[in-house]
Amino acid sequence: MTAARHPAWLPPTAWRPLGSRRCLLATAGPPATAGPLLDTVSDELVRACAEHGGVLRRAAGDAAPPDGGDEPYDLVLALVDAPLPAAAALAELRRAAAAGPLGAEGFALARRDGTTVVLAERPTGLLYGLFQVVRLGESAFGPARPVEVHRPASGIRMLDHWDNVDVHPVMGQVERGYAGGSIFWRAGAPRGDRELIRAYGRLLAAGGLNAVAVNNVNVHGTEARLLTDRLGDVAEIADTLRPYGIRVHLAVSFAAPMTLGGLPTADPVDPEVRAWWTATTARVYETIPDFGGYVVKADSEGQPGPFGYGRSHADGANLLADALAPHGGVVHWRAFVYNHRQDWRDRGTDRARAAYDHFAPLDGQFRDNAILQVKHGPMDFQTREPVSPVIAAMPATRLAVELQVTQEYTGQQRHVCYLAPMWSELLGFRPWGADGPTVAELAAEEPDRSAGRRTAPGAGLVAVSNVGDDPFWTGHPLAQANLYAFGRLAWAPDSDPVALLDEWIGLTFDPAATADPGLLRDTLREIMTDSWRTYESYTAPLGVGFMVRPGHHYGPDVDGYEYTSWGTYHFADRDGVGVDRTRATGTGFTGQYPAPWRDVYESRDRCPDELLLFFHHVPYGHRLVGGTTVIQHIYDSHFDGVERVARMRSAWQRLTGLVDPDLDARVRDRLDEQLRSAQEWCDQINTYFFRKSGVPDAHGRHIH
Ligand code: GCU
Repeated sequence: MTAARHPAWLPPTAWRPLGSRRCLLATAGPPATAGPLLDTVSDELVRACAEHGGVLRRAAGDAAPPDGGDEPYDLVLALVDAPLPAAAALAELRRAAAAGPLGAEGFALARRDGTTVVLAERPTGLLYGLFQVVRLGESAFGPARPVEVHRPASGIRMLDHWDNVDVHPVMGQVERGYAGGSIFWRAGAPRGDRELIRAYGRLLAAGGLNAVAVNNVNVHGTEARLLTDRLGDVAEIADTLRPYGIRVHLAVSFAAPMTLGGLPTADPVDPEVRAWWTATTARVYETIPDFGGYVVKADSEGQPGPFGYGRSHADGANLLADALAPHGGVVHWRAFVYNHRQDWRDRGTDRARAAYDHFAPLDGQFRDNAILQVKHGPMDFQTREPVSPVIAAMPATRLAVELQVTQEYTGQQRHVCYLAPMWSELLGFRPWGADGPTVAELAAEEPDRSAGRRTAPGAGLVAVSNVGDDPFWTGHPLAQANLYAFGRLAWAPDSDPVALLDEWIGLTFDPAATADPGLLRDTLREIMTDSWRTYESYTAPLGVGFMVRPGHHYGPDVDGYEYTSWGTYHFADRDGVGVDRTRATGTGFTGQYPAPWRDVYESRDRCPDELLLFFHHVPYGHRLVGGTTVIQHIYDSHFDGVERVARMRSAWQRLTGLVDPDLDARVRDRLDEQLRSAQEWCDQINTYFFRKSGVPDAHGRHIH
């Protein structure tokens, strides 16, 4: 079963450049005491060399490194305190390492006089350095390379799995999962496929990730018990992922002291409740000593939380933080708190305001090991949203920014939608304007502390996983690129998304295994680079969001959510469309941003076109900064979007015979569906707005 799985960005051929060479692994201490990470590095090297004809020597303890023979080693992977051969690159690297600590996961890499050296303080750093050499491919062994120091932007780089242990009657095995079943659970029990989980851990480590939460944030009955009598199931996953440096976290229910502990309350200030969490958490660490911590969705969409006891979210988060602190664990406390029982008739309540209104007043009240996990936008992972104002509003709170790799609102892994450009755009957003820090800098562990913009360290990026038991891991084979890019951005948030795409293409589609690598690369670039903007162009226009079918969220339904309690409205009428979130006449949401954005968003004329309907209710004849009217933009972008998908589909046809036939068939199938769906979106959106407005298309195209 596992054997048939697509190798993603680690096909055996990706190891050829390294595996065909003379390698030395130099570590301190005898091999027997080295630990699982070093064994992993060694096993990877052994396997690669066996497969591709290279040689691996291992030096440990005080033993002098084995002789490289007539020629020097091509590759040396070394811990800083290991005895080493006199490679020229090494002296430079040692100086670099002395200049600034590489840290638990960092490494330095250089090439000189025919030897590439990776130096790390800890085995984890060596593992990441090894994967960097794989990524570089032949270029790792080309001309000299100056010293590069690589350190992750944050210590926790996590994927949340919205996987259920029991199959949920509505949400299934994986909530918002579009790639088959769960890799961890099946029909109420652990799936028990350690080989599969290990292969997954390997892929994640190769992308730079180091943490997974193994169950859904909506914690149902069986899943709650992972914390107590089913903890052994979690320990097994932790054991399997540990060799790749991945720590396991658990989503827990705030009501657990009652549902699992039999207490009459879950009130966070109740001494018995506190004692229950303390004891329960201690047991978790007895079983899983390197357990990462808890993830909590509280007072959100029906999940229990501190509000039930008149307590604040700081009280709730600190309860768990205190239980975790003695063991070095953290709690990721989600800021996705809003009223999902809103009255649609009430135009004063604005869901976009909710996270800031609930959390900003609590800044400074959270413990050091409580991480506030904030969705990147104020609503809910829409194709286009402004950056959440919470990210700039809580300088004294550890913040993690939450992204959604699973494509709930971006085509559900049936549509090609490469999301890294969106993530890069939001990570590069500067809440205080051009002179201030970016979102990425705010979320980094060593944030910009200037002007009091951050006083607490950041906690990096977290994302909802898009993986399932599908042979391609992600349903749509091209959706693997999103998982890969997320890992790379979590490690280095300023990475260029197009360069990451190239990196992914080069690793996943071995150029040597295809007749026309140039055509393959160019075609994948053509299809994927702008696919997020293409998706945006044929779905909900100008940042308005949520014109999806209720419940499953696939395909168009303009009014599907308009008269519901979910707070997701567009307010289209015969005169205009959009949500007035201004201070002057609307919900006041623009006031949650610092200057200059509070004023830019407030102004109809200065608001970026792509967010106009997020912030303003405007007449159909309103002219965009780009010059066209809103209604004409809707028509144009939707017609254009369908054409772009048709071009993507025909571009893919060029790859017949150049890619694996199963992958080819899967992608063709999905592109057919994408084109059908894009046409459906176009027809429904254009018809809806034509009928509402009565304004004909300036180009006379057919609207139903
Ligand atoms: C979205 C999604 C839910 C999920 C929720 C969350 O609303 O549709 O399935 O539970 O986000 O992030 O908690």
